[in-house]
Amino acid sequence: MTPSVLDAITRQIAAEFGASFSYLSMAAWCEHHKFMGAGQWLRAQSQEEHGHAMKLFNFVLARNHPVQLPGIDQPRGEFASIVDVFERALAQEQEVSRNIDALYELAFREKVFAAMAELQWFITEQVEEEKTVSEIVAKLHMVKDDPASILDVDRELGGRRDEGDEEADRGAKHAR
Ligand SMILES: [Fe+2]
Ligand SMILES: [Fe+2]
Repeated sequence: MTPSVLDAITRQIAAEFGASFSYLSMAAWCEHHKFMGAGQWLRAQSQEEHGHAMKLFNFVLARNHPVQLPGIDQPRGEFASIVDVFERALAQEQEVSRNIDALYELAFREKVFAAMAELQWFITEQVEEEKTVSEIVAKLHMVKDDPASILDVDRELGGRRDEGDEEADRGAKHAR
């Protein structure tokens, strides 16, 4: 791996841990304000981001480079509303997508093919993440300030199933 690609991946590891921390902070705000479903959704999202960071962490080590972990910025802890939480989550995902694209372009320019292959997964993942969060934002805009409808959305968010569950389902289907 070239030094600049390694450096950029290291920054991405920090960004993924930062996203994990930021989602955890959003989860805390939601649960403190008794949006327990959203809190559960955001906790699961925080775990996913942790998984993204670890995927890159493992990749750097697999390529025989040392990992220099950077500091993580303190995430925002105050939000105006549950809509504000998810609008910020969407902005965060859009920024991550731009970073991943730039990182992919760098790996391409420097012909680091292994990094390009690794980053493909992240490009696909970002499409999914942006789609999911923008659907939640759209729903929250639709219901506006109607408390009963907001609680419905919150309940729905609490029904989030993790990728692990889906894999377990697929496994169960294959076993049948
Ligand atoms: Fe991520
Ligand atoms: Fe994400």
